[in-house]
Amino acid sequence: MLTLEEIFPPFALTISCGALELRVLRDEDLPELVELVRGGVQPPGLPMPFLTAWHEEPYAPGSPDGFPTSSLRWWWTQRATCAPEEWRLALVVRRHGELVGMQDMHAPHFAQTRQVLTGSWLGRAHQGSGTGTLMRQLVVGLAFDELDAETCESGYVVGNHASAAVSRKVGYVDSGRRRRVQQTRDGKVGADEQRVVVTPATYVRPYDPMSATGAEALRRFLGIHRTS
Ligand SMILES: CC(C)(COP(=O)(O)OP(=O)(O)OC[C@H]1O[C@@H](n2cnc3c(N)ncnc32)[C@H](O)[C@@H]1OP(=O)(O)O)[C@@H](O)C(=O)NCCC(=O)NCCS
Repeated sequence: MLTLEEIFPPFALTISCGALELRVLRDEDLPELVELVRGGVQPPGLPMPFLTAWHEEPYAPGSPDGFPTSSLRWWWTQRATCAPEEWRLALVVRRHGELVGMQDMHAPHFAQTRQVLTGSWLGRAHQGSGTGTLMRQLVVGLAFDELDAETCESGYVVGNHASAAVSRKVGYVDSGRRRRVQQTRDGKVGADEQRVVVTPATYVRPYDPMSATGAEALRRFLGIHRTS
C-alpha cells in the first residue's frame, strides 16, 4: 500500500535549520494551530497585518461560521488547490517540535514566472526571537536552491516594522507600493502595501546550514523542470 507521502508528495517535504522545521500542514496539526491562533497573532499597536482579519473572528468551534471554520476553509484550500498551474504550500513552523506559526508559499504559473509569493505569521509568544527571519530564509532558500525560482516576492502593510525588518534582513528590496482593501472586524478599510522582492543575488542565507528533503518528489508533483 502507498504511504500518504507517496500519494501527496508535498507531505514528504521537510525544510529544517537548527531547531526550526517546516512541513506542509496536516490535519493532526490543526488542534495545536487553533490553540496558537487563540493565544493571539497581532501585536498591539501595529497595523492589521492581513487582508482579512481571520485571526480576530469570534471563536466558535463546531459552528459553520467564525474561527476555526473560516480558517479551516483557507488552510484546506491551499492543499486542495496545489497543482502545477497554481500551487500553494501552507507550511507549519515548529521550533524544538512546538508549533509556533505558519509560512505560506504561493506560485501562480510558476513554469512561466519562476516567481514564488510568500506570507507568514507567528503566535504572539513566539515573535521577536529571530524565528520570522529564519523561516523566511528557509522558504526562499528552498525556492532558489530546489525549485529554481528566479524571484520571491512578499508584501507588508506600511507600518508593520517587524515584517519590513524580516524582508530587509533576508535581502529583499522595495518593488513599489499599492493600495489594498483590508477586511477588518469594523469593515473594509484602505491600506498601503509595500511590495518587496528578493533574487538569488541579494538573498541572505541563514547562518546555519539548511536542509530540504522530499524536494525531488515535490518538483515532479508540481511539474517543475530544473533550469540547469
Ligand atoms: C512579522 C513576523 C513574522 C516577524 O517575525 P519575528 O520572529 O517576530 O521577527 P524576528 O524576530 O525575526 O525579527 C526580525 C527583525 O524585526 C525587528 N522587529 C521585530 N518586531 C519589531 C517591531 N515591532 N518594530 C520594529 N522592529 C521589529 C527585530 O528587531 C529584528 O531585527 P533585528 O534583528 O535587526 O533586531 C512576526 O512578528 C509576526 O508574525 N507578526 C504578526 C503577523 C504579521 O505581521 N505577519 C506578516 C504579514 S506581512
